[in-house]
Amino acid sequence: MTLSKKMRNIQAMEQQVDLFRCPICTAEMEMVEHSRLVCSTNHSFDLSKSGYVNLAPQAHVTKYDKSLFEARTTVMNSGFFDPVLEVITRIIHEGSKGTPVILDAGCGEGSHLADIVSRLAGKASGIGIDLAKEGIAAAAKEHPGAVWSVADLANCPFQDEKFDVILNILSPANYAEFTRLLKKGGLCVKAVPEASYLKELRAIFYEENVPKEDTDPVGRFAEHFDAVQTERVTYTFPLAEHHLAPLIRMTPLTWGASEEKIRKALQLGLPEITIDFTVMLGVKRNG
Ligand SMILES: C[S@@+](CC[C@H](N)C(=O)[O-])C[C@H]1O[C@@H](n2cnc3c(N)ncnc32)[C@H](O)[C@@H]1O
Ligand SMILES: [Zn+2]
Repeated sequence: MTLSKKMRNIQAMEQQVDLFRCPICTAEMEMVEHSRLVCSTNHSFDLSKSGYVNLAPQAHVTKYDKSLFEARTTVMNSGFFDPVLEVITRIIHEGSKGTPVILDAGCGEGSHLADIVSRLAGKASGIGIDLAKEGIAAAAKEHPGAVWSVADLANCPFQDEKFDVILNILSPANYAEFTRLLKKGGLCVKAVPEASYLKELRAIFYEENVPKEDTDPVGRFAEHFDAVQTERVTYTFPLAEHHLAPLIRMTPLTWGASEEKIRKALQLGLPEITIDFTVMLGVKRNG
C-alpha cells in the first residue's frame, strides 16, 4: 500500500465527513489528525493502514473471506459484469443531477462502485460499505479515492437524507434504512439475479432447482419506492479457462459443494456462462 493510495482514501473521507454519524450514539463525526473519526461525545474509530474505517458495532465473521473477494475481483476484471454496470450507470446518469453522492450498500470488494464512478467520468462521489472486513480491505487497496467503511447496511453510520443514489447489487436490502438515507427525490437501484443467472453452474451443482429466497423482489421493492421501473439484462459471457475456478469460488451457489464435484466441474469446463439480472429503479417516496 503506497501512501498516496491511503491518502486518497483519507482525503475522500475528509471531504465526505459530514455524511457520517456515530454508530454508537448517532452524534456527528469529524476527522482528527487524518487518522481517526471521532464523534462529538468522543467515540473514536481509527482508520486502517489502507485508509478505510471500521464502524461495525461488532466484529462479524462471514463466509465472504479474502479468497472469495479475490476470486470476485478476478471474475469482475474479465468484463463479466460490464453490461449490468452499463445499465446501472445509464440509470444514474439519467436520473440524477450534478455530482451524485452514491452509497453502495453491500459493496463487497468495491469493483462495481469504482467502475460506475469511473464510467460517470469521476463526476460522482462513491461511498462503499460492507459487513465483510476482507471486502472493504480489498476495496480500499484496489480502488483508492472513494470512502470505504466496514458497516452494517441495516444500521448505517450515516446521517439522514444525504445520498442521491443507493446501489444494492446482489446484496440484502434494508428499505427503511435506505429511505432514511436518501435525499428527497433520491434513487434506489437494486440488482437481483433471475432464473438463468449462472444456470450452467446450477446444472452442475444442483440436481434440482433451488427455490429463490425472495420470490417477489420487485413487489417488495415497489412497496417502498415510487416510479418503479425494471430492466432485464440477460447475456452469455464467454468464459476463459482460467476464469472457471474463480467463478466457482466466488458464488454462494457452490458453498457446501464437495471437492469432488468442484474437481469434476473444472475437468468438464464451461465455454460460456449466462448472466441474468433484473435491475430495479425506484424514487424515494414523499413523506
Ligand atoms: C453476493 S455479495 C455481493 C457483493 C457485491 N455487491 C457484488 O455484487 O460483487 C453480498 C455482500 O453483501 C454483504 N452483506 C451481507 N449482509 C450485510 C449487511 N447487513 N451489511 C452490509 N453488508 C452485508 C456481504 O458481506 C457480501 O459482501
Ligand atoms: Zn458517539
